[in-house]
Amino acid sequence: MVAMRVPFYDIKAQYDELSSELDAAVHDVISGGAYVMGPNHNALEADLAKRHGVKYGIAVNSGTDALRILLDACEIGPGDEVITTAFTFVASVETIVETGATPVFVDIDPATFNIDPAKIEAAITPRTKALMPVHLFGQLADVDAISAIADRHSLIVIEDAAQAVGCEHDGRPAGNFGIGAGLSFYVTKNLGAAGDAGMILTNDDLVAERSKSMRVHGMGRERYFYDHLGYTSRMDEIQAAVLRVKLRKLDEWNARRDALARIYLQELASAPVSLPSISEGNNSTWHQFAIRADRRDDLMLFLKQRGVDSMIYYPVPIHFHEPYEKFGGGPGSLPETERAARES
Ligand SMILES: Cc1ncc(COP(=O)(O)O)c(C=O)c1O
Repeated sequence: MVAMRVPFYDIKAQYDELSSELDAAVHDVISGGAYVMGPNHNALEADLAKRHGVKYGIAVNSGTDALRILLDACEIGPGDEVITTAFTFVASVETIVETGATPVFVDIDPATFNIDPAKIEAAITPRTKALMPVHLFGQLADVDAISAIADRHSLIVIEDAAQAVGCEHDGRPAGNFGIGAGLSFYVTKNLGAAGDAGMILTNDDLVAERSKSMRVHGMGRERYFYDHLGYTSRMDEIQAAVLRVKLRKLDEWNARRDALARIYLQELASAPVSLPSISEGNNSTWHQFAIRADRRDDLMLFLKQRGVDSMIYYPVPIHFHEPYEKFGGGPGSLPETERAARES
């Protein structure tokens, strides 16, 4: 008999903890009438830019759009190659393909699930324009090694920081290791909206100017004059208001995740699984507690029978999905990525 149910995530618990503040914040927006790019939107941009130590936070309507707009703002397009990982959420690769550029997959470091910098240089060609590391599961990729490679080959770095709000290396937060970073505030993220929302972080004046324009159809300083091809990708004021309330709790929630993760690490030390490993200099915000198991299906069943939910992040590497097959080298081409998909 199941004594207790441990859901994979329980978003309602956050609402219950903050219900009066969230209700008031949403009510203020609806009754106030500033529904897009209002005071919460502007304050959230300033708060998150400050928190990540960057000049600009540019709110958009999803993490996917943050990456898409960043790629455009960096003028990545047909003929360019962007090096990234196939062990990620599809948006990292989808946005590259949408620009007309070619994603080039590099295998992951099995210890962290993040791109393996030791394998990046072999994938660089004269067409390579950018590196897009994905900071997976709550810790940064090997940003020192990636920055050094980018410098050596004059490449730009775009950080997929969708899962990395609050992640740091040697005290430097996500958003400081390239020309720009994309954050996601999708519902299940450590800082999650009540729907879709995202943000571009950058220190680059030109990328900021273009991104701000592209999120409103490429509009320039004057209304109804267009400087760029753009999108409709504003962050709703309601989402900004919700995120501002939750942001006040983020450090406390991340500390709670850390305390729980430490209990897992201790209690699972002798279990027949391989536990997460945090690289030197990194913190972890424990976006996921990702373990590997040889007998994964048995383990998931064992947990389920005891009321504990689990999920597979990510069951199929990106280069095995139909729209992306042509960019990969087929089965066996990314052995660690493929093994992670089987075991994590
Ligand atoms: C690694 C990664 N990249 C990009 C995204 C896209 O973010 P969003 O869902 O906000 O569009 C996500 C979110 O799920 C993600 O996990």
